[in-house]
Amino acid sequence: MTLTKVFSVDPLNPCEEVLKICCEVVKGGGIVVFPTETVYGLGASAFNGEAVKKIFIAKGRPADNPLIVHISRVEQLYEVADSVPEEVLNAVKVFWPGPFTVIVRKSTRVVKEVTAGLPTVAVRMPAHPVALKLIDCAGPIAAPSANISGRPSPTTGFHVMMDMFGRVDAIIDAGETLYGVESTIIDTTSKPYKLLRPGAMPIEKIAEVLRQGVLIPVQARGLGEFEKALAPGMRYKHYSPETPVILVEGLNTVQAIKKVVEELVKEGKRVVAIVSSETAKNLEMPIRLVTYGSRANLFEIAKNLFKVLREIDSMGVDIAVIEGVEEKGLGLAVMNRLRKAASKIV
Ligand code: TXA
Ligand code: MG
Repeated sequence: MTLTKVFSVDPLNPCEEVLKICCEVVKGGGIVVFPTETVYGLGASAFNGEAVKKIFIAKGRPADNPLIVHISRVEQLYEVADSVPEEVLNAVKVFWPGPFTVIVRKSTRVVKEVTAGLPTVAVRMPAHPVALKLIDCAGPIAAPSANISGRPSPTTGFHVMMDMFGRVDAIIDAGETLYGVESTIIDTTSKPYKLLRPGAMPIEKIAEVLRQGVLIPVQARGLGEFEKALAPGMRYKHYSPETPVILVEGLNTVQAIKKVVEELVKEGKRVVAIVSSETAKNLEMPIRLVTYGSRANLFEIAKNLFKVLREIDSMGVDIAVIEGVEEKGLGLAVMNRLRKAASKIV
């Protein structure tokens, strides 16, 4: 057990003393949980292999699953990447800081522990004052999401404490993160560019800037075989609670959910339905009902998603039935996570 220092800061105007202490931890080869605009990250210096190894131990993460390197200035891209195509440079200037991660060829300075031995590296500049200031002081930081491997990514300081207290050197709690889903990952090392993971930056916006277009493989939708996953991390079981989860997709969801729930109730199962506020109004049934937001506001649904997934196991039910959303904008990221969390799709 590690003695974890826990700090609470104002997300927009973080205490300089806290940042200085955490910067020294990173420079000294330690690991620190920090907020980003997507989810919390667990960071170490991208140039220190021994420090990066500690991240894998703290998370229980398989060593063949590479990490994203976080930078705070576009020039740092040249410290971590070997060659960057012109149009990728243009795109990062549009989307950074923000939830947009590019896979490019790595520089020799990035240690092999970060990239799991791959010749490529994932890079992004987070849009969060705490993250940017920490990186400004400590240099490029390699960081996966700050959850125990397999659990939903943490979107609040409380989630981080549940997973990481006693496993890391420091935690910076800055409240709830803005998006609640991780960044969008684009592989630019071969053409056509590929979407590896849908995320907080809608692919429609990215395709407007990367004019040649971006291929969306079925795996990016959370469908297809795990073995054929594009980002190594998408191969692993992820986001799923212990409680079985049935995902209901399609247009006539109210009727479909009613039918699924009725059958489960008949079998004597205790059920929770996790649905949009629109569906909740039309679902008069004697079961637990949790609303994850309005279908008209995918931003709200994305933000609540991981919190709800984390809470399912403490709801006192045998099974959860979740309503799917339309795969547009943020909906693509939401459906990717829901399909991974689901034990069955209807
Ligand atoms: O929003 C985010 O992206 C958050 C915050 C903390 O920045 N980070 C995050 O990291 O979600 P992580 O480690 O949970 O997910 C990174 C994903 C994994 O699926 C990993 O396999 C993939 O990126 N990845 C990293 N480097 C890669 C590479 N060189 N080639 C292909 N996939 C890569
Ligand atoms: Mg993760």
